[in-house]
Amino acid sequence: MTTRTLFMLPGDGIGPEAMAEVSKLIAYMNSNEDAGFKTEEGLVGGSAYDAHGAAISDEDMDKAMAADAVLFGAVGGPKWDGVDYDVRPEAGLLRLRKDMELFANLRPAICYPALAAASSLKQELIEGLDILIVRELTGGVYFGEPKTITDLGNGQKRAVDSQVYDTYEIERIAGVAFELARTRSNSVCSMEKHNVMKSGVLWKEVVTATHQAKYSDVTLTHMLADAGGMQLVRQPKQFDVIVTDNLFGDMLSDVAAMLTGSLGMLPSASLGAPDAKTGSRKALYEPVHGSAPDIAGQGIANPIAMIASFAMCLRYSFSMISEADRLENAISTVLDKGIRTGDIMAEGCKQVSTSEMGDAIVNAYAASG
Ligand code: NAI
Ligand code: MG
Repeated sequence: MTTRTLFMLPGDGIGPEAMAEVSKLIAYMNSNEDAGFKTEEGLVGGSAYDAHGAAISDEDMDKAMAADAVLFGAVGGPKWDGVDYDVRPEAGLLRLRKDMELFANLRPAICYPALAAASSLKQELIEGLDILIVRELTGGVYFGEPKTITDLGNGQKRAVDSQVYDTYEIERIAGVAFELARTRSNSVCSMEKHNVMKSGVLWKEVVTATHQAKYSDVTLTHMLADAGGMQLVRQPKQFDVIVTDNLFGDMLSDVAAMLTGSLGMLPSASLGAPDAKTGSRKALYEPVHGSAPDIAGQGIANPIAMIASFAMCLRYSFSMISEADRLENAISTVLDKGIRTGDIMAEGCKQVSTSEMGDAIVNAYAASG
């Protein structure tokens, strides 16, 4: 039997509550489907700070590096507001991203039929939507040097941020997008602004060359990122995979995500480079939402974002495609039945707790086996 190692970092606030529902699924899959998941749990964020004064310990960091995949809940909360910059809860997530070199951030925007009516777009534009935004996460203007504020001495200051991309950074993110497209509808739209940015010129050139060299079976189109923003809200279903840089990806992925509903529904994945020996990628899966201190401890958080992140883990780290499909369908089935947590509650539906939502999804998953 294959052993699949999962390192779980529930974190703070609603993180542990949501993660508990994933643990139910793992237990089910291990006992009924010989999934072979070997799990271990660590501390991250405020809970790690309280235990040992750092946002993640070196020991837990080593476990994250060694695992096949990391499942991350959420970190932070007002309790740790005064804590030093380098040990504050968010530093745990930043260290994981940096040490694991997670350069590819995957943000799907999927429309569950039962929630289509709640979208800000017309139902026919959004129904059946399934797109994936691949955002470069470790380069670009958030990290480029120089990055300064200079006093010009005449009562003025000058702020500089630098958008910097090297060929290899564009090549590897393009590679991830093309590979993912092959497992989906086989089309990639690359977004940049080559009309006004040198980094956009290089981006387009390298994506095109990568496509020609290794992925010519995938359909590639290019769009200026501002036009891409318009098209995302005008006709979102025209896209399959979108690949873009860190800054544009930050905005475009938030726009795409909000087309489809609540923060409690949105999963994400961050992938690193393939291991030279095994070819497997380091990977971390987490909901888009934070620790929601306003509702933590009440048992009312929506666990779907965390569970859908686990579905991405099945798909991208373990190639368990049919299990991932079944799990996503199970979420859809439960929503179709009108079972809702408070954040997505609608008229005529039944409001349930975090744990009841988790149970309903496990049952729907089991029934599809
Ligand atoms: P948040 O995402 O935690 O909450 C925003 C609003 O959405 C709140 O009203 C919350 O109750 C609701 N919400 C979020 N997830 C939900 C879920 N699963 N079910 C039901 N309702 C949900 O963002 P906020 O309030 O800005 O930040 C709270 C803390 O979380 C801060 O300390 C922040 O730094 C941290 N944070 C951590 C992130 C991470 O761990 N990756 C990401 C974003 C924020
Ligand atoms: Mg953002």
